[in-house]
Amino acid sequence: MLKKDAVLKEIREAKDLKNLEQIYLKYLGRNGEITLIFRNLKNLPKEKRVKIAKEANALKALAEKELKIKSEILKKKFKKEDSVKKIDITLPGRKLVFGHLHPLTKVLREVNNIFSQMGFEIAEGPEIENEYYNFDALNIPKDHPARDFWDTFWLKQTNNKQPTTNNKSGKLSVGSCKLLLRTHTSPVQVRYMESHNPPLKIIAPGNVFRHEATDASHEFELFQVEGLMVDRKISIANFKFTIGEFFNRFFGKKIQFRLRPDFFPFTEPSFDISINCLVCGGVGCSVCKKTGFVEIAGAGMVHPNVFLASKLNPKEWQGWAVGFGLERLAMMKYKINDIRLFRSGDLRFLTQF
Ligand code: DAH
Repeated sequence: MLKKDAVLKEIREAKDLKNLEQIYLKYLGRNGEITLIFRNLKNLPKEKRVKIAKEANALKALAEKELKIKSEILKKKFKKEDSVKKIDITLPGRKLVFGHLHPLTKVLREVNNIFSQMGFEIAEGPEIENEYYNFDALNIPKDHPARDFWDTFWLKQTNNKQPTTNNKSGKLSVGSCKLLLRTHTSPVQVRYMESHNPPLKIIAPGNVFRHEATDASHEFELFQVEGLMVDRKISIANFKFTIGEFFNRFFGKKIQFRLRPDFFPFTEPSFDISINCLVCGGVGCSVCKKTGFVEIAGAGMVHPNVFLASKLNPKEWQGWAVGFGLERLAMMKYKINDIRLFRSGDLRFLTQF
């Protein structure tokens, strides 16, 4: 007859549910040792049969009870461990969410690359600018109506000593000068020319701020890219070639562009540059205000007074300057119909790039 203690010991020492299942089969399966006892009963003499049957029944009941208890214990134990370390290698991998570049950063890098390849250096200027560099040095004197063009964000600090033009004499003198959020990147022209001798070719990318009413094509915070080329004999032909080459490389195809006379105090002559609206293909949409053209930059030949403010002789040096709106370039390239999307922080927009 089976030893009761040995069976119980085996059950109690089972390592896991699989092991327990093997023990069950060993004793209580179809050919298990306890099952066989019952099957053999008929071969035993009657007096023995009753006694053995009784013992076997008791052992079976005990084994079943112990198996049930052990099974509960093991189930609990593995449930706990499973939740901590079970790795289901059949599950699809969890995707890592990578950050990526903002569309404006992407476009800026492309612009920087193209101009760098054409031999331009990249210059920088401060976003908090003073009145002198933002206006005076760019031939926009205090009483000039051009100052009304830009509804400026003025800053409160006033004790910033800088050269400024005297209203009456028109001469430069040092005085207190108001600070502002720069309204354009053109001040970098003067800052750069003050400290670098021509010949020079630069672009100056950066944020600019205007008190604009916003709509599909206007924002109060913009990204501009200023361009400047100065040498002894620079003409509009140099400008047209450079800008045409830039458009072709940036858009990856031949781009038709249009120069029209315009006015900027810091250039003479001045013009605006438009390209065919690539959002609607020139048919007319909210971006091009139904004109089929989008103004993409202002430009012109550097005004002699800007050279003077930069301590360069205008009789010796000539140059062209340009100011691009980076958002406009990005809108044309990616067919984006609302400028406000760029700084909205809306992931539905941003994750498309
Ligand atoms: N600074 C001008 C603006 O913000 C754009 C501009 C026009 C820049 C003509 C230039 C230029 O360099 O030559 O509207």
